[in-house]
Amino acid sequence: MTRPPSVCFGASALVSLTLVACVATTPPDAIPDIPLTQPSLACGASSSLLSASSRVRALVADMTLDEKLGQLNQAAGGRSKTLNSKLTPEELDKVRRGEVGSYLHVAGAEALGALQQVAVEESRLGIPLLFAMDVVHGYRTIFPVPIAMASTWDAADWESAARIAADEATASGLHWTFAPMVDIARDPRWGRIVEGAGVDPYLGARMAEAQVHGYQGASLSAPDTILATTKHFGVYGAPAGGRDYGSADVSERSVMETYMPPFYAATQAGSGSMMTAFNDIGGVPTTANETLVDGLLRDQWGFDGMIVSDWNAVAELMNHGVAATREEAGILALRAGVDMDMTSGVMSGDLKRAVSSDSCLMHDLDGAVARILTTKERLGLFDTPLAYHDPAREAASLLTPENRAEARRIAARSIVLLKNDSGALPLASEPQTIAVIGALAEDRLTQLGSWRAQGDQEDVISILEGLQAHAPEGTVITYAPGSHPTDYDADAIKAAADIATAADRVLLVIGEDYDLSGEARSRSDLSLPASQQALANAVFSTGKPVTVILVTGRPVAIETIAGRANAVLNTWMMGVEAGNALADVLWGKVSPAGRLPADFPRRTGAVPFTYSEYPSGRPADPDITKDSNRYHDLGIDPLYPFGYGLSYSDFTYDSFTAGAAEVGANGTVTLSVKVTNSGSLQADEVVQLYMRDPVASVARPRIELRGFKRLSLEPGETRTVSFTVSPAQAAIWRSGNDWAIEAGDLEFMVGGSSADIRARTSVRVTDTGHSNAPAAALETKVDVQ
Ligand code: NOJ
Repeated sequence: MTRPPSVCFGASALVSLTLVACVATTPPDAIPDIPLTQPSLACGASSSLLSASSRVRALVADMTLDEKLGQLNQAAGGRSKTLNSKLTPEELDKVRRGEVGSYLHVAGAEALGALQQVAVEESRLGIPLLFAMDVVHGYRTIFPVPIAMASTWDAADWESAARIAADEATASGLHWTFAPMVDIARDPRWGRIVEGAGVDPYLGARMAEAQVHGYQGASLSAPDTILATTKHFGVYGAPAGGRDYGSADVSERSVMETYMPPFYAATQAGSGSMMTAFNDIGGVPTTANETLVDGLLRDQWGFDGMIVSDWNAVAELMNHGVAATREEAGILALRAGVDMDMTSGVMSGDLKRAVSSDSCLMHDLDGAVARILTTKERLGLFDTPLAYHDPAREAASLLTPENRAEARRIAARSIVLLKNDSGALPLASEPQTIAVIGALAEDRLTQLGSWRAQGDQEDVISILEGLQAHAPEGTVITYAPGSHPTDYDADAIKAAADIATAADRVLLVIGEDYDLSGEARSRSDLSLPASQQALANAVFSTGKPVTVILVTGRPVAIETIAGRANAVLNTWMMGVEAGNALADVLWGKVSPAGRLPADFPRRTGAVPFTYSEYPSGRPADPDITKDSNRYHDLGIDPLYPFGYGLSYSDFTYDSFTAGAAEVGANGTVTLSVKVTNSGSLQADEVVQLYMRDPVASVARPRIELRGFKRLSLEPGETRTVSFTVSPAQAAIWRSGNDWAIEAGDLEFMVGGSSADIRARTSVRVTDTGHSNAPAAALETKVDVQ
């Protein structure tokens, strides 16, 4: 806890998500040497100021009101035109006057060094600027899109990619990235599902903390580490109908048990900043939600970093209808605990009068300024403001062969084999003609996906190039674009079918292009674009064996296409090494072991759907004549479930046992299983541990992920995987930050996916207890022997 304990009045059980008054229960610590605005007990106590360094406190004491408000201002550097194009001479004057705290969408060691020099040498107090960008899955070396990164089911891969991204971005003058994006997304119509780790809070928590560790490294003050922003705090991933920016009308239980765990995990991993979500939960926009932001995140979880709004979100509180004026909007955001205002200019431009006449608001402002300055201090910017501005380092750091090699390794690990009839894959090495069909095979930009920072499509090895470069001797690769998701050319589709007819087999590269997923890219229809369906139909009609190479930023509805294909590889969008990574998998250098972090629906009408729903009183029954929890016109299972993915090898699971039949509420129990590669190829398996609480005071999800381990096994090799879990990982949210551990049986299941359970066992929790952490955020310790 970094603030004195507060009692919040007006909150319902947890997050009534209404604004509440928080009153400090103990007086703030005595203010030491530097006199500052004494917080009244009726104001939220700002321990951020009290616990700040003497340098920060001295600065805050010395700052004018305009300078304080200026620190809250994050201005845009001009990404939509040319990067840095908004850094005009007039803008530099604002820096000299202390009217800007940070710039986003800027880059370049030299250019930003010159700007930093203006801030530290020509402004009255010499406060350095913070430079930020969305470095989401790579800076110049672009890695697979985040949903693909999560498909590796290996947090170490994400950490490694984030470390490389941090090294490149900081070499280019950046201090701050707006990542990780940890929003749980259960409706693939939402375009931003591509930016996160999918549907599951446990997997999401592991991927969140791995990224924070990778970005921030061991010390934020090192010039190759970057400040992480965990976003978008709130429930951004569940907008109604999947329409971006829409209201999330979810239960408090879902907020706490499903959406919050990755944020909590990132907080515990030391994420230095958080971004509030654009949208509202049940009518309360998170940017104005004091209970959630100042209450849960800061007071209860102890988050002591900086909080930034999303782009223009402070001003947009007026559109939400909770503020009539810009001033009111700014007051709400500041009170809620937002420190920095991304681009709306409200906090710097419209709050002066309100803050001057309200000592509580002044106190909130001091707290926000202290957190911003403390962040700058943690980054080492007061001591070495030009440490990030070495053009020689920048030239040597970007897109190195080592970084590319890591991008290729991870991209191959992210590919998910969805179907493989009669061993269609890996491709044989004997001479044959392979027709590569589909314009996405040449589309380099799409491989960079949503948020490509300084990624350049010229850096990308396209799918076609990769296949041409790595095809075994004697293989003839022919190619026809057929159609791209954005155009429909009947003649080109016919020509592609002719090329397919002349080949021995077809690699059909179809799906979405980069512009169909991401921010403001929600779709009402999860089928492939019409041109892609038409191309697929034409190619299937040739009767040739077809392997579908699916390119997508979200789970798509491909039941018919998958039904007609011999094999399907879901490749998402793979980054700069796309073609090389795909070739590694197609010709068997790497056995695919990516697993789905989100269920694939059969049809759009089946979403939202998640493997871990609460059980119904009338569970879904395959027998259509029974009245059960299902659609009358659709099977009861998703096309591909959470955790699913095939291998070129086979695995057996044996001897699943619990180390003890009983465990106390605060104890731990170890569950072990022997996994054997029973096939003939070296391959990875992702061993997955699921849990269920069959009888509890409230219904529990029918099955929940609680552990996983990606293992590499030689043919015939057996390893024992042990998962050590605690009853707190089954705790049920009650209220506030109170989680109840209930006595009774817990069932554990192990297998290769949420629908491929190979063994079960039970453990009895002997007594009740309490926990103060979201259950899914707690990590299961995994050991392999
Ligand atoms: C809006 C997006 O929602 C957010 O994720 C991003 O970080 C900001 N824009 C800045 O680009």
